[in-house]
Amino acid sequence: MSLAAFPGSVHVRAPGKINVYLGVGGRHDDGYHALATVFQAVSLYEDVIATASDEFTLSVSGVEDTSAVPLDDRNLAMRAAKMLAAATGYEGGVHLEIRKSVPVAGGMGGGSADAAAALVACDALWGTGLHPPRMHELAARLGADVPFALHGGTAVGTGRGDQLNPALAHGRFDWVLVTSEEGLSTPAIYARLDTHRSQSGALADDPPMSLDVPIPVLQALRAGEPRSLAASMFNDLEVPALLERPSLDGVIKAGLSAGALSGIVSGSGPTVAFLCESPESAHYVQSELMDAGHAALHVHGPVSGARIITA
Ligand code: C5P
Repeated sequence: MSLAAFPGSVHVRAPGKINVYLGVGGRHDDGYHALATVFQAVSLYEDVIATASDEFTLSVSGVEDTSAVPLDDRNLAMRAAKMLAAATGYEGGVHLEIRKSVPVAGGMGGGSADAAAALVACDALWGTGLHPPRMHELAARLGADVPFALHGGTAVGTGRGDQLNPALAHGRFDWVLVTSEEGLSTPAIYARLDTHRSQSGALADDPPMSLDVPIPVLQALRAGEPRSLAASMFNDLEVPALLERPSLDGVIKAGLSAGALSGIVSGSGPTVAFLCESPESAHYVQSELMDAGHAALHVHGPVSGARIITA
């Protein structure tokens, strides 16, 4: 059955992401850091249903507590709809219904997926027919992770993370995600990284303003080898996330002792992503972690970016 309530609605689904690799360089004057990252879109989705309306309104529901999600202009999906209307001269409004499955403030780009889905849904609902490069440009203005949520798959992100190039990835990768009830603030984690680096002397004098993804990460993805990928996964935001939430260290250890190949904090956390050898292994790791009292989900990647489900 379609999620669309009645004709005049467009339902778009957009994925959450894991940063398989996340290298963070220096801080630009605009507050954003230079990044070299590899995103992989995974099978945990946000659903956005856009319905014609004279006003701009929003409702949010989800599998977990969504009370922290703003319903006004601080909401990225709302900003996306208004930005598209302003860019195209569209004079009406929209009601956006967001059904969340990606953890709120979890480091998996849930808000960015909402924004990407809202852009695609409103463009279809309003018939504004935005060209893909222009859609990408609006997405990048909304947030560094929004262009990736539009495109999906596996991609290298440079600049602020918004300059994307597709990465070749063979086959399917199985992940177990351990979510936390309480999110972490992305700006706070970046700030903590800067403080930690200046206190420890690491990169303090000369943080690189242009970074590359290490070749072994790209080779492992291209070969479809989870073991090689596990050996080359890395996240510069893991140290500040662990400083902010020391209990995540125990989560990582629990997943590794359950048989995961590797575990890293996803993006700015607190979600921890475990890469597993196979679907069966992921199933086992998930059940072990759940038995130990963790909230664990088995997902796979790569999957596609924002897509219209029904119109
Ligand atoms: O663009 P987005 O809203 O996802 O970024 C959230 C925050 O994360 C930014 O305000 C900034 O503090 C931090 N950030 C950063 N460098 C990046 C991406 C995000 O410092 N490349």
